[in-house]
Amino acid sequence: MHISATILGLAAGSYALEGRATSASAYSSNSDGSYKLSSITAPVQGSGDPGSTSTWNLTIDDTSSGYKQTIVGFGGAVTDATVTSFNTLSSSNLQDLLNDLMTDSGANFALMRHTIGASDLSGDPAYTFDDNGGSADTSLSGFGLGDRGTAMAKLLASMKSSQSDLTVFGSPWSAPGWMKINGVIDGNTTGNNLDDGYLDSGTGSSGYATEFAQYFVKYIQAFEDLGVSIDAITIQNEPLNSQSGYPTMYVYADESAQLIQNYIGPALSDANLNTKVWAYDHNTDVTSYPQTVVDTAGQYVDSVAWHCYATDVDWTVLTTFHNSNPNVNQYMTECWTPSTGSWNQAADFTMGPLQNWAAGVTAWTLGTNSDDGPHLSSGGCGTCTGLVTVNSDGSYTFETAYYMIAQFSKFIPNGAKILSGTGSYTYSSGGGIQSVASLNPDGTRSVVIENLFDNDVYVTLTTESGEEWSGDIPSESVTTWVLPASS
Ligand SMILES: *[C@@H]1O[C@H](CO)[C@@H](O)[C@H](O)[C@H]1NC(C)=O
Ligand SMILES: *[C@@H]1O[C@H](CO)[C@@H](O)[C@H](O)[C@H]1NC(C)=O
Repeated sequence: MHISATILGLAAGSYALEGRATSASAYSSNSDGSYKLSSITAPVQGSGDPGSTSTWNLTIDDTSSGYKQTIVGFGGAVTDATVTSFNTLSSSNLQDLLNDLMTDSGANFALMRHTIGASDLSGDPAYTFDDNGGSADTSLSGFGLGDRGTAMAKLLASMKSSQSDLTVFGSPWSAPGWMKINGVIDGNTTGNNLDDGYLDSGTGSSGYATEFAQYFVKYIQAFEDLGVSIDAITIQNEPLNSQSGYPTMYVYADESAQLIQNYIGPALSDANLNTKVWAYDHNTDVTSYPQTVVDTAGQYVDSVAWHCYATDVDWTVLTTFHNSNPNVNQYMTECWTPSTGSWNQAADFTMGPLQNWAAGVTAWTLGTNSDDGPHLSSGGCGTCTGLVTVNSDGSYTFETAYYMIAQFSKFIPNGAKILSGTGSYTYSSGGGIQSVASLNPDGTRSVVIENLFDNDVYVTLTTESGEEWSGDIPSESVTTWVLPASS
């Protein structure tokens, strides 16, 4: 073993030295932006010397008994706002931005959500891929991505060429108006449902369940034609949110389960598409919804998608769900990142899900212009700042939330295994240390440590494999230690 590793090292030259850390390193991003993925003093082996700094102990189990979920990736939602903002950049600036976002010279994002048709973060007017002037189009012969859908697919294809591990999933905000009881994408809460017979004699007894399923097939095929394979869909963004002002559609849990089991799953399968369906795509306070979908349509549904907007969001809901459904993957698929949010808001919605079995996290939204848009004039989020703001002078700015998510995504690649650990605690007064660790495909271990105190903390980490590492975690920072492979 040792000899062949040496030969490999010689043959691979400097790549092997760079590709696999042989000593520890540390990188930090902090609340005031003086650190932005900055290299800081690495942890030392042993208990070190905290001096007068307050101390904290963490443990990780980096042996096989500590292995938890395998990471798919991190990223954001590619909305129309993202696409139109990014496409105002010069081609060289856009390429620089994609290199930062999608490669390990930057955030190494490997998971992107995208909107299927309009969301609130679209310019006017709201649209779907088959509006047909509001008249029924049962053959879907009027289906088309249009300029906005085409531009979105092309941007995702560029992302895929920068990041071969990229996983892409799509979510509609509404079905085409003609498929709905109220006849419109963007109405009020009256009749804001798919016209699929569900409220009368069961899904598919009348209406457009079959057409709704074919709509997904056509969209996936159209994106594939432009170079983007769609790994998964959710069939409706926030199915329990019905409101006016922007596209929404109410879908009952049992209705969702029937649509997937009897229509959408079979339609994808008949079209030889291996796109998965992820259940739910809404808040953590209604766990019965994804449970119903998984119980009924588990043949097609391998994952549950959660959002962050429940009051006092409790990510341990994901651990409870995992314990009842150990073979179902989970993702945190939406949380907004307002520029007025706390410095650690994005760190919290990444850390909490990772500590509780999530395989990936996507922020809402990846990019916007300097007005947090464009967004629909009729309603929706007017303060949803992207992880990246595209400025009117043709430059772009990474927001605090970008750095906080990148402290995870840059160092926990696709294929990494999350490790069990102890020592995370947040006081009701607000201070505390939260941490999550991974064993990476190259054998290195990453330990992400969020320091919620407004003072530095000297952390000592004990590993189940028998090592001790100690170092300073700057005040109000997310700091990542990259430890060499255990010997
Ligand atoms: C950390 O662990 C060491 C060794 O077990 C112990 O002496 C020390 O009191 C602990 N520190 C804290 C802050 O719990
Ligand atoms: C909702 O929209 C329908 C159809 O446009 C309309 O008839 C109804 O008055 C609206 N209801 C409310 C509460 O605005």
